[in-house]
Amino acid sequence: MKILLVNNISLSSDKFNEQNKLLMQSAKEINIDLEIMNNARLTSELAKNENIVKKFKAILFYDKDIFLCKKMENLGCKVLNCSDCIKNCDNKALTYQILENHNIPIPKTYIVPFLFYYKKKYLNEFVETIISKLSLPLVAKKWFGSEGQQVYLLHTKNEIFKLIKKEKGKELLFQQYYSECHGSDIRINVVGNEVVACMHRKSSTNDFRSNLSNGGFAKTYSPSDKEIEIAKLSAKALNCDFCGVDILQTKNGPVVCEVNSNAHLLNIYKVTTINVAKKILEYIVNHIN
Ligand SMILES: Nc1ncnc2c1ncn2[C@@H]1O[C@H](COP(=O)(O)OP(=O)(O)O)[C@@H](O)[C@H]1O
Ligand SMILES: [Mg+2]
Repeated sequence: MKILLVNNISLSSDKFNEQNKLLMQSAKEINIDLEIMNNARLTSELAKNENIVKKFKAILFYDKDIFLCKKMENLGCKVLNCSDCIKNCDNKALTYQILENHNIPIPKTYIVPFLFYYKKKYLNEFVETIISKLSLPLVAKKWFGSEGQQVYLLHTKNEIFKLIKKEKGKELLFQQYYSECHGSDIRINVVGNEVVACMHRKSSTNDFRSNLSNGGFAKTYSPSDKEIEIAKLSAKALNCDFCGVDILQTKNGPVVCEVNSNAHLLNIYKVTTINVAKKILEYIVNHIN
């Protein structure tokens, strides 16, 4: 069976090359003929001849190029994850709104009002209000980002305005900071309607972010029934065939921090010895048949 793996042309570090290797090796083990193509090359190939996709039984879309993903769907391809899932997960503002709408616990979150251009006075009232609702410090996130790079812990009103100004008032949200979760969270990998692997992540410095790419370390973790339930509900709400759900273990119970449609597959393999890459490929085969 021929499957196409789509990844992003910009991500060519060891971390992503190793992940590709894991996917290729896993495919081989279950007799899948996996071909890799990056999004830029695939876009060019489609421009030349759209029929090239016909030979693939399915597309494993491990990228965030949602327009390319949608294009493949429009051409009649079976694409997993689908463009709706990738869109829902890539934009944290959208993720939180969908989860909230499904009564899935999320941190108290406020999205910065949409402005055509930034002026401090337009946001004065909003900033005053979120400080009173969330108290300081609070967490700020850009809607799009990963590896903790666009996530900030802000301690003063001045820091809040500095960030909003830097981002020109665009694509930001503010949320409640859980001090009891400082530097730790859990990552639950869901494939289909099953939890297949889970790890507990801890920052190795005083950083409040537990991302492994940020210098954290991890160990195998056995999730509670409630954590499993929330992870599965999140995957379903966001239309994910597979995903990595990040959960904060707050003193009031588990809260979804974010959901990754393209969760990294190597770290979870190294930490738990569970090959999620293989489980995703097996799921795709079963799904097609
Ligand atoms: N509201 C919060 N309270 C405490 N820690 C948080 C909060 N939100 C995020 N974090 C920490 O920051 C990390 C990165 O945040 P996340 O939303 O997952 O962004 P990214 O997409 O960059 O991984 C999380 O794994 C967690 O350790
Ligand atoms: Mg994360």
